[in-house]
Amino acid sequence: MVGSERRYQAFLDSRAGEGLRRSLLAVAARDARTISVEGGSYINFSSNDYLGLRFNGTLIDRSIAWARSYGSGSGASRLVTGNLDLFQPIEAKLARLKGKPAALIMASGFQANAAVLQALLDQSVLGAEPLIFADRLNHASMHFGCQAAGTRQIRYRHCDAAHLGELLNRHQGDDRPKFILTESVFSMDGDVAPLGDIAALARSHDACLIVDDAHATGILGQGGAGLSGEADIVIGTFSKALGSFGGFVASSETVRDYLINRCGGVIYSTALPPPVLGAIDAAIDIVPSMNAERAYVANLATKFRAGARAAALDTGTSVTQIVPVILGTPEATLAMSERLKQAGLWATSIRPPTVPPGSARLRLAFTAAHQQADIDRLIEVLSAKDARLRARAV
Ligand SMILES: Cc1ncc(COP(=O)(O)O)c(C=O)c1O
Repeated sequence: MVGSERRYQAFLDSRAGEGLRRSLLAVAARDARTISVEGGSYINFSSNDYLGLRFNGTLIDRSIAWARSYGSGSGASRLVTGNLDLFQPIEAKLARLKGKPAALIMASGFQANAAVLQALLDQSVLGAEPLIFADRLNHASMHFGCQAAGTRQIRYRHCDAAHLGELLNRHQGDDRPKFILTESVFSMDGDVAPLGDIAALARSHDACLIVDDAHATGILGQGGAGLSGEADIVIGTFSKALGSFGGFVASSETVRDYLINRCGGVIYSTALPPPVLGAIDAAIDIVPSMNAERAYVANLATKFRAGARAAALDTGTSVTQIVPVILGTPEATLAMSERLKQAGLWATSIRPPTVPPGSARLRLAFTAAHQQADIDRLIEVLSAKDARLRARAV
């Protein structure tokens, strides 16, 4: 073993010692509601496929049709020969859905945040190190983007517009370019940023507001448009409620043009393949008409929160289809996850560093594929007295 590998092994051992080691499980899925893992079948409460679109016939048919007509890959980056004529009409539809003048499709949501933020925060273009005001629970990919740009973040308390206002006031006289970065729906808490207040602060401090709308696009907002209407720049993904894969930026034409000229993730990465573009195109077509599914999912989450709170479970500040059950230690969370598994229910435990220490949790997500009885069963198993005693005792 070379020296570096010994270090990697030591890292893995220490993660294991803290109950934080992760590993990959092979999962089989034949529908949007259930998964099979190691021979067992489970109702899946850990999927971001909020509308169940992964198995929607329109998406699948268009994906197959576009693979047959246009090939399985795009063959090159968009600036070389990969900018297939499929992109332009999809980006126009996407821009309309997001209420922005322009949109640009990227490789993934993670890649969009990491690469787009690096380009937007580029000091050599902005003329100075920008001031970045960021919610302290923003997704890891947003941190990657800031780190890649070499900029420090000024963190404000989670969803606390008053704290953001104080920090902005402290930098009132500073004329360096200002940015505010937040998610709309937070991925691990299912709460919603106070976007109206944040947008007002952005306007009064001449800051650019960038919103990651990953967990709202398709499932929340008018016609599934998401919650990012007041943002200057929206970053998003097709991998969650839109049921396929890929990321996007919705913005002004100037920002889109700038990214095409400056963003490494656009310039040096192969364009998304036609089958994926087919699924994206179909999802954007049908999502606006899925109000009944959105209302159904919202009701499932409300029903679950009421049942969980009645059983004195801590569901944090959730108000969306994502509902955490915060159990504290990794051990308690792993034990509860195992208990659910024994009852045929799947909820992956989420542990630090994905969430702050002391707040390990089950992160439950409700989807249009769930049945009412699934929620009843989930509440029943989670609130069974011996389950909770066991989870606490470990
Ligand atoms: C808030 C947020 N942004 C971005 C991403 C990354 O998106 P993708 O899965 O498309 O890479 C995620 C997914 O985990 C997310 O939760």
